Amino acid sequence: METERFNANIEVDLDEDVQTTEDFLDTLETEYERYAIECEAAMQKALLSINGLSAAFDRAGKNNPFDRIESRIKTFKSVRGKCRDRGYDFTSESIRENVKDVAGIRIITKYLDEIALVKDMIIQIPEINIVSVKDYVTNPKENGYKSVHLSCQVGVYDPFSGLRMRPLEIQIRTKTMNLWASLDHDINYKKRIYIPEMEEKFLHIAEILDELEKEAMALRDARSTISSD
Ligand code: GTP
Ligand code: MG
Repeated sequence: METERFNANIEVDLDEDVQTTEDFLDTLETEYERYAIECEAAMQKALLSINGLSAAFDRAGKNNPFDRIESRIKTFKSVRGKCRDRGYDFTSESIRENVKDVAGIRIITKYLDEIALVKDMIIQIPEINIVSVKDYVTNPKENGYKSVHLSCQVGVYDPFSGLRMRPLEIQIRTKTMNLWASLDHDINYKKRIYIPEMEEKFLHIAEILDELEKEAMALRDARSTISSD
C-alpha cells in the first residue's frame, strides 16, 4: 500500500514536469511564430527589391545573373535543433540574439563571376542594411564549402510597436556550389559526425567543380567573342 501511494506521488510530479515543459514550449512556439511573421515581412520586402533587379535584366534583354531566387522561414523545430546543436539557450531572447537566419534568401547564379555582381547590387538596395559579409568564395571553408553570406537587417513597420529591424541572411552561390552544398548538407552537415575520408572526398569534389566553374566561364566568353564577330 505504502509503495503504491509513493509511486502514485512520483507520477503526479512527473506529469506536472511534463505539463510545465509542454506549456513552456507552447508559449515559446507562439512567441516564435509571431517573431517569424515579422522576419517574413522583412524577407518579402527584400525579395521585392531582388526580384526587381532580376526583372530589370530581363527587360533590358541582358544576361540575367539571377538564375534562381529561393527563400524560406526556419521552422520552430529547426530553430530548436539549431539551439541544441550550438548550445544556445532555448528562449525567445536567445533566439533573437543568436539565430540570425530565421529568414533566409538564397540567390543562385550560373557563373562564378556573377556572385560579385549580385553582391554589389544587393549592397546598393537602400532597405537592406548589411551587417556583415562572409566571403567563403574567396576564402572557402576547410571542408570546401563556398558561398557569399550577407547578414542583413531590414526595417519592418508595425502599427502597434513602430519600426523594428529584423534579421535576414542572404546566401549567394553558383549552381555548381549549390550542388556541392546540397550533397554536403545531405551527407555530412546535418549528421554532425566528422569522418576524415568523407571530408577528403568532398574536398576532391570541390576541386573538380572548380574546374567546371572555370570551363563554364571560358565557354561563355568564347561564345560571346564568336557571336560578336
Ligand atoms: P549559423 O548559426 O548556422 O548561421 O552559423 P554561422 O553564422 O557561424 O555560419 P555561416 O554563416 O558560416 O553559415 C550559415 C549557413 O550557411 C548555414 O545555416 C548553412 O545554410 C550554410 N553553410 C555553412 N557552412 C556550410 C557547410 O559546410 N555545408 C553546407 N552544406 N552548408 C553550410
Ligand atoms: Mg550565419
